[in-house]
Amino acid sequence: MTANELRAKYTDFFKLRAHAEISGKSLIPENDPTVLFTTAGMHPLVPYLMGEPHPAGKRLVGCQKCIRTGDIDSVGDASHLTFFEMLGNWSLGDYFKKESIRYSYEFLTKSEWLGIPLERLSVTVFAGDGKAPRDGESAAAWESLGLPKECIHFLPREDNWWGPAGATGPCGPDTEIFYDVGAPACGSDCRPGCRCGKYLEIWNNVFMQYRKGADGSYAPLARPCVDTGMGVERTVAILQGKKSVYDTEVFRPVIGRIEQITGKRYGANAEDDRSIRVICDHVRAAVFIIGDPKGVLPSNVGAGYVLRRLIRRAVRHARKLGLADILFEELTQGVVGLYGHYYPEISEKKDFIVAELMREENKFLETLKKGEAEFEKLLPNLRKNPARMIPGRVAFRLYDTFGFPVELTEEFAGENGLTVNRAEFDEAYKKHQETSRAGSEQAFRGGLADHSEITTRYHTATHLLHKALRLVLGEHVAQKGSNITAERMRFDFSHPTAMTKEEIERVEALVTEQIRRDLPVTMTVVDLEEAKKSGATALFGEKYEARVKVYAVGDFSKEVCGGPHVAHTGLIGSFKIQKEQSSSAGVRRIRAVIG
Ligand code: ALA
Repeated sequence: MTANELRAKYTDFFKLRAHAEISGKSLIPENDPTVLFTTAGMHPLVPYLMGEPHPAGKRLVGCQKCIRTGDIDSVGDASHLTFFEMLGNWSLGDYFKKESIRYSYEFLTKSEWLGIPLERLSVTVFAGDGKAPRDGESAAAWESLGLPKECIHFLPREDNWWGPAGATGPCGPDTEIFYDVGAPACGSDCRPGCRCGKYLEIWNNVFMQYRKGADGSYAPLARPCVDTGMGVERTVAILQGKKSVYDTEVFRPVIGRIEQITGKRYGANAEDDRSIRVICDHVRAAVFIIGDPKGVLPSNVGAGYVLRRLIRRAVRHARKLGLADILFEELTQGVVGLYGHYYPEISEKKDFIVAELMREENKFLETLKKGEAEFEKLLPNLRKNPARMIPGRVAFRLYDTFGFPVELTEEFAGENGLTVNRAEFDEAYKKHQETSRAGSEQAFRGGLADHSEITTRYHTATHLLHKALRLVLGEHVAQKGSNITAERMRFDFSHPTAMTKEEIERVEALVTEQIRRDLPVTMTVVDLEEAKKSGATALFGEKYEARVKVYAVGDFSKEVCGGPHVAHTGLIGSFKIQKEQSSSAGVRRIRAVIG
């Protein structure tokens, strides 16, 4: 079964069980400053898991493209990927543990679906602790389906608790489903959850029962929900009897091309295999990031920096393999050929994606050249060093300032009869990583599920601002993105020139007027076409379901939007534009605060 077939099969299975299919969303979360990328299928569904009604109903199924970069440096082993697809089914206050587990069991084991022998499966469930009880209900559900007791493992919170994705929000115990690849156990305590590779996690069913508050407390959710996630690439690998996600049709053609050009055989040398895998993974992720409807370009901050690292790492590994040209055009075409029908955004932007990849590659090659020149300059002094060893801090400076990888420093050192004090370098690098990790952890703090009163008020204010901009500047104004924290909002919109002082004042006055009028905010669920006909604004490039929610702010604005919003505009308080500036070509950015 191919990845495309699995996606279709999964969706069919749940559609037959009264689930509505929803389309996946952007890789860049909207209105969520706490994460750089969409990391799970539940991400765009947080408002609904928290109680907002979903226009498509209470049972949903879909596939979400995800990026996880937490362990970007481990990519290259058999199962780590930065970009992956996650299949999911969701119950929004409808069925719960028993039914969810039965659905998973049926889909995995029945011959008309995946037909995986039950003997290959084992599961973990939450063991309970001081904060939440042992999940006997899930264990009993598995047992009633014929899974032997010894294949049901009770594990602690570190293993069997999911969420919240941010600091606050929906969370609960989960049951994780593992496939035994048939390798020997690594020891007497080898069990699902062990990292030796024998047990591969393929599906996770989360039972959202609690809401974690800002004070760390767990309050029961009024309406418990189910959130599941199945990794497409991993499941396809086991269905095809492959040892690694890289051995499936998702990556094999690309690997074949790399083999052909370099003359290296995949599987012959662990170092080369790693480089080949890194190229496959990183280029695929970069294609999806640049090609996303809310596409990101390489830069030195946030998601753009992650993208830059992905591309540069791919280029570096290509050089290691002796590939003079990383074949961005061919590799992008490979990704588009495989996914373009399901993700048309990458087909449409193919040429643009290739051009951006090549531009970043060239920039990196420039960086390398500068690093090499710097190295040459340092050389006479380094040669005088009696130990003939380059201090770690020098290697680190080359890395940090010039983006010059330590492996290259080692290579150059070797060519000049020198070595690098690697331990010292590693120490400096580790320190640096700890600092940047603290930074990225910060990015996760604040809660993706931050539906606090303040962010909800800001959210309604963005609707007022959007409409006011269209009234003052013209109908060409379209929202390009928005980003809300508890302190401010940022709103990006298309407009060719800087706003004048007068325009800014008029926009501000219009928004303020709507707040004073204390307009009611109402929500209706209608067909997308009907919504558009009624004049509701929808975000360009965003994928919507057939039935959507439309939020109207009195007679002032109407937008297709997931919510949540305040009940009436008076709750926003006051509105002030602090800054208007350029964001990128043809896009302006407003920073505003409410009071
Ligand atoms: N949200 C759950 C996960 O990502 C299903 O594992």
